[in-house]
Amino acid sequence: MTDLKLLTISGSLRKGSYNRKLLAEAVRAFGQAEVIEADLNLPLYDGDLEDAEGIPESVQTLVDQIKAADAVVISSPEYNKGISGVLKNALDWISRVPGSAFKNKPTVVMSANAGRTGGETGQYMVIHCLVPHQAEMLPGPTLCVATAGDEFDENDRLLNERYLKVLNTRMTALRDRVS
Ligand SMILES: Cc1cc2nc3c(=O)[nH]c(=O)nc-3n(C[C@H](O)[C@H](O)[C@H](O)COP(=O)(O)O)c2cc1C
Repeated sequence: MTDLKLLTISGSLRKGSYNRKLLAEAVRAFGQAEVIEADLNLPLYDGDLEDAEGIPESVQTLVDQIKAADAVVISSPEYNKGISGVLKNALDWISRVPGSAFKNKPTVVMSANAGRTGGETGQYMVIHCLVPHQAEMLPGPTLCVATAGDEFDENDRLLNERYLKVLNTRMTALRDRVS
């Protein structure tokens, strides 16, 4: 049997990103899969660039990865109580490619932030921004890792059992949905 394809999307480009660490934990909780890590290092959306050169190769690659994935998990920091510009830019580019890459794609959204709410407001905005993409948003307990700098050990493993429990619930539901 071929492995399920799981695409992870981090709304932070930072190498040491807590959202990337959370995605790594999400991958472990999901279990055996072919994991693809999206690269949101895309040009800024610019209608003139699109008119002159069409869809950038990096955007097309991302769209192809979304289409090919059985399931998607997005983890993003909130920035100033909103969606990260990196993620919004990616969603705007994706929307410019015919074929609605996210349509009916089973998707889970989570967040990790330095602040005390774990990026809950920003996470709701991510979910809101996914509405026009018609992703299949899996319901479940909200996972917002707060004061994220204190929540991972030296091996980048989540320390808090309560977060791990919610993460397992979410990723088990995602796996069950696509198995
Ligand atoms: C521009 C900017 C805005 C931020 N706004 C928030 C915020 O609204 N809430 C919050 O909890 N942390 C905020 N932070 C702190 C982030 O939670 C912290 O930088 C976190 O590490 C970002 O996620 P990452 O580790 O995945 O890069 C902000 C950071 C930056 C750079």
